[in-house]
Amino acid sequence: MRQITSPELREMFQRFMESKGHHRIASASVIPENDPTVLFTTAGMHPLVPYLMGTPHPAGTRLTDVQKCIRTGDIEDVGDASHLTFFEMLGNWSLGDYFKKEAISWSWEFLTDEKYLGIDKNRLAFTVFEGNEDCPRDDESYEIWRSMGVAPDHLFYLPKEHNWWGPAGLTGPCGPDTEMFYITDKPACGPNCSPACSCGHYLEIWNDVFMQYNKQKDGTFEPLAKKNVDTGMGLERTVCTLTGKKSVYETDAFTGILARIAELSGKTYGEHEEETRAFRIIADHMRTATFILGDNRGVSPSNTDQGYILRRLIRRAVRFGMKLGMPEGFTAEIAQVIINQYQETYPELSRHSDFVLEQLKLEETRFARTLRQGEREFEKVAARVTDGMIDGLTAFHLYDTYGYPIEMTRELADERGLKVDMAAFEEHFKKHQELSHQGADQKFKGGLADQTVETARLHTATHLLHAALRKVLGDEVAQKGSNITAERLRFDFSFGRKVTKEELAEVEKLVNEAIEADVPVVCEEMTVPEAKEKGAIGLFESKYGERVRTYKMGDFSFEICGGPHAEHTGELGHFKIQKEESSSAGVRRIKAVISGT
Ligand code: ALA
Repeated sequence: MRQITSPELREMFQRFMESKGHHRIASASVIPENDPTVLFTTAGMHPLVPYLMGTPHPAGTRLTDVQKCIRTGDIEDVGDASHLTFFEMLGNWSLGDYFKKEAISWSWEFLTDEKYLGIDKNRLAFTVFEGNEDCPRDDESYEIWRSMGVAPDHLFYLPKEHNWWGPAGLTGPCGPDTEMFYITDKPACGPNCSPACSCGHYLEIWNDVFMQYNKQKDGTFEPLAKKNVDTGMGLERTVCTLTGKKSVYETDAFTGILARIAELSGKTYGEHEEETRAFRIIADHMRTATFILGDNRGVSPSNTDQGYILRRLIRRAVRFGMKLGMPEGFTAEIAQVIINQYQETYPELSRHSDFVLEQLKLEETRFARTLRQGEREFEKVAARVTDGMIDGLTAFHLYDTYGYPIEMTRELADERGLKVDMAAFEEHFKKHQELSHQGADQKFKGGLADQTVETARLHTATHLLHAALRKVLGDEVAQKGSNITAERLRFDFSFGRKVTKEELAEVEKLVNEAIEADVPVVCEEMTVPEAKEKGAIGLFESKYGERVRTYKMGDFSFEICGGPHAEHTGELGHFKIQKEESSSAGVRRIKAVISGT
């Protein structure tokens, strides 16, 4: 067993890829820009979709990175040995450059060469796509693995549900993949055991996706003009597998965090099952919350979108903290450990540490208030009960209206010898979820891959709006988020108060003047220091001095950006602000449309 740590693997991977001509790029934000299809960046490919679709990337055609990813679909499963809501994904990218042969042979070299992971070849197995009506069987990848010396009984053809990746939204780049598995000491579960099986004999460590199609709205697959490679290796999971640990929480990524939880609670990790689960939930949720708050596009806890998930993570951590007897204010203490641990790799965390700690303290206080109110409501409810049972609708009401967690209702009921009609509660809960999913499905249509003329125009209008806001309200205004659908733009920016009607009218006027001036939208590539020096605004995410793309519109707007743009401002027609509102503390939100184009 190789005792590799997360920082070692992170660095070794990117160095190796650099030696193969890849350019290192910084992780993008965990909150996607201009993509309403997802709340968070779920994979390394996400922020690179425009480049997979053909836009040239300023850093070239071979890239490598470690991307901060958040997947909260399985939030209730966190607490077992493997589920995480935040993880880091290592990747290498070919943007219309190399394809299967290079990708596979470099994967092989990195996995088996003594200079790198040096995994025994007999411990590795590989899967390739078995083919369907949309795409033929991937015999090419099979033969490349064979030519590396992989025996046929270590190679498996698997169907689309296993060996296909993407698109990240409903449409966009996707293709067959080949996946790499580590063979553990756990014996195969039977003669038919394969990497498709979850018995634990095979553990996935890496995935090379051959992105050669663009999935269309009508469900068909159109070949992309340029074929790409997107690979993903989950950092925590791979370290866990290679070091033979039973759980990701036992890897170095969690040592410091768990130690701090132990210190604050006086409990020991791994001693009691239920407490161990609480340790893991707190560690996982606090890590994710810290990365959301500490992001360049960080949000505050709220009742919608990313803010809502953040609120759930923090409150869930607090609830499990209470079970462990953690002191008040513990979330900020844990976050500090996480910031210290990750700030070298993700410098935005230390830049935003004041905000992270302050928001956590605030949310803990708000949650304490919610719990007190909920308890008062519970007492009223309990006093009315005549048959020893709290009915489902009442329990749901406590949850839905007062934000009182159902587990706590059950605990209080228990203390008073009452029962809760859980079956009825679940029914109300499900109905509520279905309704909100329908809303979400409506909202998540479209996406980054959906680069229509309208979205390009709205995106260009966003630049003009940003510039106009700074002219009217001052340099305090900075972009905090942007979300574009085919119909409207939404722009979040830092500003401490409501924007007045007069100011909004002035902003609208300036944007429309810039449109009427019909200046060309000029794109230029440069390094981040150059862009800063020349006065560009925008998110300076780059850490490695890679080249970035800037867009200039006359003297009006000059911004770093990767998104799709119109060619002339005159294409935008007429700009109109529909709404100005608060988005979260210190952040305002504007919704606007363009018409007559
Ligand atoms: N995008 C691919 C994945 O997430 C690499 O597995």
